[in-house]
Amino acid sequence: MDIRSEKPEDLEAVRNVNIAAFGRENEANLVDSLRGIGPTFSFVAVQSDRIVGHLFFSLVAVEGKCSRHLSILGLAPVAVLPKYQRQGIGTLLIRQGLKECGRSGFHAVVVLGHPDFYPRFGFIPASRKSLKCEYDVPDEAFMVLELESGALQDCSGTVKYRSEFSLCE
Ligand SMILES: CC(C)(COP(=O)(O)OP(=O)(O)OC[C@H]1O[C@@H](n2cnc3c(N)ncnc32)[C@H](O)[C@@H]1OP(=O)(O)O)[C@@H](O)C(=O)NCCC(=O)NCCS
Repeated sequence: MDIRSEKPEDLEAVRNVNIAAFGRENEANLVDSLRGIGPTFSFVAVQSDRIVGHLFFSLVAVEGKCSRHLSILGLAPVAVLPKYQRQGIGTLLIRQGLKECGRSGFHAVVVLGHPDFYPRFGFIPASRKSLKCEYDVPDEAFMVLELESGALQDCSGTVKYRSEFSLCE
């Protein structure tokens, strides 16, 4: 299993992974619409020359009070082809992806997702860091991970995703 950054020739396969994993086109369209807008990270999992997983990060904004400028990413979407799920591929993608985001100097990552899955990577409810989601979601489903320890200490507010995320409502 190889985890690497997406290449231009991967776009069709990445689309197909998202469509197959989510059973609809919304997430694939979201990724296509966000590529190239601000900093984004797109990673693929490759097995035997086939793209079987995909992970995407894009910039979010905090509307509130922060004592300094913070660069925060939203993790979404993450997708693994149905036949390849529950074999550790999603975990590997997320671990590698988070490492790269940290290396690139981002301060934190938020995710809206299953509270049984993301804490294994260090995510905690964002409310514990005084951050809330702009969407009406259960408290434990909106999580944050500091990539730089203490980065969120003097920051509070509402996390805003780009308007393109309305494609996935
Ligand atoms: C979520 C997803 C990317 C995980 O990838 P994966 O390769 O199957 O994950 P792994 O094999 O690394 O880890 C499996 C773990 O994730 C958990 N998990 C996966 N999807 C889950 C979900 N939708 N709800 C709850 N837990 C989930 C499994 O319970 C399992 O936990 P365990 O290790 O305690 O048994 C994949 O299942 C997928 O593509 N799902 C459809 C798309 C989706 O819902 N994406 C997430 C929202 S953005």
